[in-house]
Amino acid sequence: MATVQVWIAWQCCAPMKFRFATPDDCPLLAQLNHKLIADVGLPALMTLEKMSKRMKAWLASDYRATLFEHGGKVVGYALYRELPEEIYLRQFFVVHSHRRRGIGLQAVRTLRSQVWPRTKRLTVEVLVTNISALAFWRKVGYRDHCLRLEIPPLKLRRAGNQADKLPSKKTRRKGGTAL
Ligand SMILES: CC(C)(COP(=O)(O)OP(=O)(O)OC[C@H]1O[C@@H](n2cnc3c(N)ncnc32)[C@H](O)[C@@H]1OP(=O)(O)O)[C@@H](O)C(=O)NCCC(=O)NCCS
Repeated sequence: MATVQVWIAWQCCAPMKFRFATPDDCPLLAQLNHKLIADVGLPALMTLEKMSKRMKAWLASDYRATLFEHGGKVVGYALYRELPEEIYLRQFFVVHSHRRRGIGLQAVRTLRSQVWPRTKRLTVEVLVTNISALAFWRKVGYRDHCLRLEIPPLKLRRAGNQADKLPSKKTRRKGGTAL
């Protein structure tokens, strides 16, 4: 019993750590990215291998990823790029087992205080259907700014006289995603 109490106390109080991802982390990041996509309700259009390659390419360009660790385990990550006047956060994820414990909040605080320059605008895009993420971003300080509207690409519509019809619900969901 005492061991369990010590373990619980350690779990609650262990500080969260962060580190910058390297190319070796890409298979892990791909797995987390895969879960993120499932969580936000988008179809998985890529294999884990392709996602890992895509992550490697991002890290080789101007994207950086930060991994958050708690009790020696990776509990979340952020993928972002620095633009001249902006930090664009492309992906942000906390593992299921650690949600609603303030990990996301702490991760954003860490990024703002220790990683991102304070002089730049911070941006993130959220699917309007992702109600929990909207609540989270508003809670951590992001404010509603613009609403992006879209018509999915022509190739997803049926040819000929179908061109002016709205795509079906299924094809609409295949529309572009930043994730
Ligand atoms: C959104 C996400 C990052 C939140 O991470 P988290 O560690 O659970 O968030 P926190 O515990 O730090 O929550 C901080 C506050 O945000 C709000 N919030 C977080 N999750 C919420 C939810 N599911 N519903 C409503 N509000 C929520 C609450 O105000 C919460 O404070 P409270 O717990 O005291 O009420 C996490 O749920 C996640 O990874 N979701 C899937 C991926 C995703 O949607 N990423 C964002 C893409 S834009």
